[in-house]
Amino acid sequence: MEQQTARIAVFLSGGGSNLQALIDDSKAGLLSARIVWVVSSSAKAYGLTRAENEGIETFVFKPKKYPSPEAAAEDLLSKLQERKIDYIALAGFLKLLPSSVVAAYSKRIVNVHPALLPKYGGKGMYGHHVHEAVLASGDKESGATVHLVDEIYDHGKILDQARVPILPDDTPDSLAARVLEQEHKLYPRALNKLISGEYGVNDE
Ligand code: GRF
Repeated sequence: MEQQTARIAVFLSGGGSNLQALIDDSKAGLLSARIVWVVSSSAKAYGLTRAENEGIETFVFKPKKYPSPEAAAEDLLSKLQERKIDYIALAGFLKLLPSSVVAAYSKRIVNVHPALLPKYGGKGMYGHHVHEAVLASGDKESGATVHLVDEIYDHGKILDQARVPILPDDTPDSLAARVLEQEHKLYPRALNKLISGEYGVNDE
């Protein structure tokens, strides 16, 4: 039987340059998957505009607008299931996913983090905070990590990493830009490998 193209939902909160990298690689045939739904925690995220420009359906998920956290989780999960989403790719999503979604999509949720995990991860380690901590440490290199998502921030199994040097005159912004360039290459490649079973995560 011919395999169906995997259907991806991308979750974000901001600019969405990683979303764009996933869309571009999907269109170029480098990622055998389709981005079919974009979920944002903020109505102002530029990532939503990127999705709309590509004709991709969008949704702003605000748990506080529901009567309870359980109702919010249930609605999100049923929306994912209605759209037959196979994988969730977090790309700058600044909220924790409801645990029922994490459980339903076990080993099928990935995240990209702008440092070499397990260093510089966890709650509060996002955006410039990460790069400031890396520069303060005196490390000689940083990079990007793609990992599976569980219920703890930046904690799931590491799938792949890309490394960049830290230069003597680096600022958090210059380091972030160098890392982001690598994320755009690493993330579609790693997602493709996960979908094709190359990481063997389901054999464990
Ligand atoms: C990236 O640096 C990613 O590693 C982190 O959030 C940032 C998102 O950037 N999780 P963008 O919205 O994809 O441009």
